[in-house]
Amino acid sequence: MHNILRIDSSSRTEGSHSRELGDYFEKAWLNQHPEDRIVRRDVVAEPIEHIADQTIAGFYTPTDQFTNELQAATTLSDRLIAELQSVDFLLLTVPMYNFSIPSALKAWIDQIVRIGRTFSYDGASFTGLVTVKRAYVICTYGVGGYTNGGPFSAFNFLEPYLKLLLNFLGIQDVRFFTVEATTSDNATVTVNTKQAKREIDTMIAEA
Ligand SMILES: Cc1cc2nc3c(=O)[nH]c(=O)nc-3n(C[C@H](O)[C@H](O)[C@H](O)COP(=O)(O)O)c2cc1C
Repeated sequence: MHNILRIDSSSRTEGSHSRELGDYFEKAWLNQHPEDRIVRRDVVAEPIEHIADQTIAGFYTPTDQFTNELQAATTLSDRLIAELQSVDFLLLTVPMYNFSIPSALKAWIDQIVRIGRTFSYDGASFTGLVTVKRAYVICTYGVGGYTNGGPFSAFNFLEPYLKLLLNFLGIQDVRFFTVEATTSDNATVTVNTKQAKREIDTMIAEA
């Protein structure tokens, strides 16, 4: 039995391609692994607080020196890290917003990337401390050309950023599923969505 943490970050609840693909993934996964459990976190429906002055102070203060204020300022981070460290796999559904990730997801990242908890630094190198075995990342883009050496590859701060961040945290196995040109005509969107679904099916059959 495996646990999967699914994090949705599209501000759209209706007509969201990334959420639709996430639902498809979830259904296909559970079909193949009915005993597995998927925990959902929707960072839009339940926005994550931005880290504040005292949160950062808490990140760099040993817990035996915590004041009540530092404790309170790091409680959400503790909870989100515990949730992340309790699962085997991560499923992120992520639209491209202004060439990068939605700020709602960035707020979650800022809470869970924490020295001594999810990464360490010895003065020369970083070590990821997250125990998640693999991450599946579904990315949606309004236009085409961001992946596979396309003309907008240099504009793509979504996929390379998430790959680097997840690797940095210790998750080396990261699988991306892409739907480009979601704002294009229906026929194009259908073809591109079907392709991503086929890739999900193939991956799940092999997982
Ligand atoms: C605020 C905002 C910014 C966006 N920025 C980009 C962008 O930089 N590049 C792009 O190709 N599409 C961009 N889009 C289009 C979305 O990536 C596209 O509609 C995608 O399908 C959104 O994911 P969703 O369908 O899950 O909501 C943007 C959309 C919004 C709402």
